[in-house]
Amino acid sequence: MKIVAPTASSIEDAVRLLRKGGLVAFPTETVYGLGGDATNERAVVAIFEAKGRPRFNPLIAHVPGAADAQRFVRWSAAAERLAAAFWPGPLTFVLPRAERSPIALLATAGLDTVAIRAPAHPVAQALIRAAGLPLAAPSANRSGAVSPTRAEHVAESLGERVSLILDGGPCAVGVESTVLDLTGATPVLLRPGGATREAIEAVIGPIALSTALPMGDAARSSPGQLESHYAPSRPVRLEATTVSADEALLAFGPHPPAGAVMTRNLSPTGDLAEAAANLFAHMRALDRPEVGRIAVMPVPHTGLGLAINDRLRRAAADDGAKRQG
Ligand code: TXA
Ligand code: MG
Repeated sequence: MKIVAPTASSIEDAVRLLRKGGLVAFPTETVYGLGGDATNERAVVAIFEAKGRPRFNPLIAHVPGAADAQRFVRWSAAAERLAAAFWPGPLTFVLPRAERSPIALLATAGLDTVAIRAPAHPVAQALIRAAGLPLAAPSANRSGAVSPTRAEHVAESLGERVSLILDGGPCAVGVESTVLDLTGATPVLLRPGGATREAIEAVIGPIALSTALPMGDAARSSPGQLESHYAPSRPVRLEATTVSADEALLAFGPHPPAGAVMTRNLSPTGDLAEAAANLFAHMRALDRPEVGRIAVMPVPHTGLGLAINDRLRRAAADDGAKRQG
């Protein structure tokens, strides 16, 4: 495994790998992705293998922009308006698969829909354009573990399972893209993420939350949301306003309680964008053997707080499945 700076020549190397069905980890504005040719079943199998990801959990296809997306999905008026407002950026659309869409069936786990997004990071844009391929790219971590927001995180999590990592520095947004299902009459928020509910609703009006759907529907439309995710190896305790002596503290705001083994503050000023950008790196930093438990202070449930609280809730979920996923 090699970590390299993104230059014209390393991007050429990356493209050569991708065209042969190989995998390349690359930075996006949300988290690092583990990319492979989305039209190549072999490359897509390799992604599932490298992550240890269950095959029923479909991948996002990454494209440069809206014009390219229309080869792969049935575009819609809502998609057009949202793409104009958010692309390139941290918003993923779930749309019906286009007729003769070349996206590998395994990438979509056999569903008749495709998740698609145009990432904003210049290295992601350069790579996808140079490859001339849609890239299937889940977060570049072992399935169920904390997502990577730095090249070193990718190396720690995937090791020799990935041969090339393009190092674009820390990810600016820090939580994954918002996944929005546009296949029905009302858009459904399948995963809160870097594009806020408020900003989306300002463009297309009210959307529904997948948690409001009956269990069966929610499971079918959002397979990835069934598993626990973002799990550090230490247990996690939410809504902490005090800490005990064996706990590490993931703080938020100006007044963290004293007495923790160690403390990382998501944002001393209480800024949610800063907190999102720090979330995964701070969770990793606190996930140490001398820590009995990670205590997490409350984070407001508005704007990016929805995505932050979603990841924290999953990190704290103790359903026994979390270390298999
Ligand atoms: O920010 C991101 O979205 C990052 C970067 C690398 O772009 N990628 C990412 O991918 O987070 P991943 O595979 O970790 O998460 C994709 C999510 C999963 O929850 C999956 O279930 C959902 O998108 N998804 C993918 N295809 C879908 C589909 N056809 N219908 C419903 N949900 C889908
Ligand atoms: Mg992921």
